[in-house]
Amino acid sequence: MKNKPFFLTAFITLIFTNNIMNAQKKDYLDKTKSIEERVNLLLKQMTIEEKVGQMNQYNGFWEVTGPAPKGGNAELKYQHLRNGWVGSMLSVRGAKEVKAVQKIAVEETRLGIPLIIGFDVIHGYKTLSPIPLAEAASWDLEAIKKSAQVAADEASASGINWTFGPNVDISNDARWGRVMEGAGEDPYLGSKIAIARITGFQGDNKSDLAKTNTIAACAKHFAAYGFAESGRDYNTVDMSNSKLYNTVLPPFKAASTAGVRTFMNSFNILNGVPATGNAFLQRDILKGKWKFDGFVVSDWASVREMITHGFAKDGAEATEKAVNAGSDMDMESHLYVAELAKLVKDGKVKESLIDDAVSRILRVKFELGLFDNPYKYCDEKREKEVIGSKANNEAVLDMAKKSIVLLKNKKDLLPLKKSGQKIVLIGALANDKNSPLGSWRIASDDNTAVSVLEGMRQYKGNKLIFEKGADLTVGNTSFTAELVFNTTDKSGFEKAKKAATNADVVVMVLGEHGFQSGEGRSRTNLDLPGVQQELLEEIYKVNSNIVLVLNNGRPLALPWATEHVPAIVEAWHLGTQTGNAVAQVLYGDYNPSGKLPMSFPRNVGQVPIYYNNYNTGRPINSDKNVFWSHYTDVEKTPLFPFGFGLSYTTFDYKNLKINKAVFAKEESVVVSVDVTNSGNYNGKEVVQLYLHDEVASLARPVKELKGFELVDLKKGETKTVTFTLTEKELGFYDNEGNYLVEPGAFKIMVGGSSEKGLESSFEIK
Ligand code: NOJ
Repeated sequence: MKNKPFFLTAFITLIFTNNIMNAQKKDYLDKTKSIEERVNLLLKQMTIEEKVGQMNQYNGFWEVTGPAPKGGNAELKYQHLRNGWVGSMLSVRGAKEVKAVQKIAVEETRLGIPLIIGFDVIHGYKTLSPIPLAEAASWDLEAIKKSAQVAADEASASGINWTFGPNVDISNDARWGRVMEGAGEDPYLGSKIAIARITGFQGDNKSDLAKTNTIAACAKHFAAYGFAESGRDYNTVDMSNSKLYNTVLPPFKAASTAGVRTFMNSFNILNGVPATGNAFLQRDILKGKWKFDGFVVSDWASVREMITHGFAKDGAEATEKAVNAGSDMDMESHLYVAELAKLVKDGKVKESLIDDAVSRILRVKFELGLFDNPYKYCDEKREKEVIGSKANNEAVLDMAKKSIVLLKNKKDLLPLKKSGQKIVLIGALANDKNSPLGSWRIASDDNTAVSVLEGMRQYKGNKLIFEKGADLTVGNTSFTAELVFNTTDKSGFEKAKKAATNADVVVMVLGEHGFQSGEGRSRTNLDLPGVQQELLEEIYKVNSNIVLVLNNGRPLALPWATEHVPAIVEAWHLGTQTGNAVAQVLYGDYNPSGKLPMSFPRNVGQVPIYYNNYNTGRPINSDKNVFWSHYTDVEKTPLFPFGFGLSYTTFDYKNLKINKAVFAKEESVVVSVDVTNSGNYNGKEVVQLYLHDEVASLARPVKELKGFELVDLKKGETKTVTFTLTEKELGFYDNEGNYLVEPGAFKIMVGGSSEKGLESSFEIK
């Protein structure tokens, strides 16, 4: 043996190692073993570079089905992929395209670990649902879940197995453009919707994730991103513990409990510490207290941005801080791949933390079934069948109708009569097939929405005339560019006025462009952009029978319209089926049932404005002087409150009952109320229960939503709605994050909005 030539020893060693390698490979591919065993078997074989590779995510970077890229960043990324230094890619889409990159990861790297493919499937993939804020207005958890299922169905057919959604950021600042992505201002509603979306994407049970039509979800942005100062995106967040624990974290906690497989951290600093480098959020709360066993991805380059925040001096320090704080995967900072192996070798990051991060990532890949069939989402036949299917279009139409909120209906204008009417439709947005698609629609084709004009044309009994009135924007619109608005050209006003003059009803579609809300789209005005307000007032002068259909991705402040225009329909950005949904609601084929998930202010100066605020020491004008909490120039109440929305019918509330007056802490409080459809149409009502803890060790909000039910009532019908309040609903978090239910008096209010309802009270001993 001793004399064996070197090359022979090397050869034998190579064969031997290869065999072990193959044997081990087979081990972790063995489906009879548990996922945890398989993760550990694989982890043992990985070099530090391969481990770090799993923590590295790159954006799609070259014509993946074409020749290998030459030069620059693309070639570098391609090389990294072939080295096994890339664990995930985002924004590669299409069964064929994903297969091409997956093939490199699986067939050209030493261990053949499949990629997890992420994409922003925020309100649908190709067949688009309403923007999430609009969906939240439905308060219909089944419909919201279905909408997420449709999105998962289409995305998974296109090679994608991970969505960067749902966005569960609570926000009460309409200036912030990303309110369009969330569920509004309330943590209770936000939590329920988070669960609906997650189970829609992932399935009801853990094992559903391995199905071909489900995808991993991602609760984002962890945390407090929705409280950017002055509503300016990416801005500083400075927040009390009370707000953090009681308002911001509950939907994230609900997401974790519901089994969401990933979290995304956020761009903002929270009380001085960037969320990406925040161990309190990611290690203590998420992975500690909540025992979250999925993985955390950074937001786009947010690891590197910690340098700009002044929290890390260079890439190495940013990496060290991010990994130590619990950010498992680096989205596009290119830093983990460059710095992390060395940081481990230098003892700055413990290898056990790397092992923990990699295990989390591999666990999700195993759960998705990627190791068993890496190409399971790359079936071109299924892709053709599923994407844009009739069933998916029907589902998003259903969601779109349910998302519409009727804000005002005077003069009996709505529903529109189906025949013998002259209807004049005005506004560039009425004939727009692009804007209604909303902000996040990267996989969808431009100009594929059904416009309001197209939707209304299907009702042939009336004479319908369209007049644009004025352009909303100038030049091209896109996801990445600033919009330019038409602020000068009013040349179409006269024609529109002429047409409107002798119309029975004028329907005006006005509001924001679909690209006016979303990431990077903060506003300091909440009005109708461009010349739209002027157009509205000019038309009103010749014919006041106006139905205003609003398109917007955030609450707007429209005091003039609210005072003058007789009918207002909040139609958000409703996605692919917009025009059909709007027309069916206007013509009464669908009776609107939506309720606002965010307060609409009277003007920007009221923002942030939210229903679950705290009492001041001087909430009312008891001394009839100026020294009470108010504004001198406008009422302090919102223009339209949270939970508000009308119907073509009316609902009466009676017989509010609580099963007894005094309860022990652990007992359930049972509340019931009779709701009657007292109008002339069948309809649905969102019955809402609000709670107020009258005296507590921390001041509690004036009211908090703690239950709701969507009830379907035929005209004349009465139903008894019952709510059960348990410890889960009755308590709150103190400033250390402990959950408390305190004895004392509680008030409840039950009604059709946060503004008013029947009231009663009980006590906890
Ligand atoms: C940045 C956004 O903040 C985040 O929500 C999104 O998922 C990523 N970009 C990826 O596109």
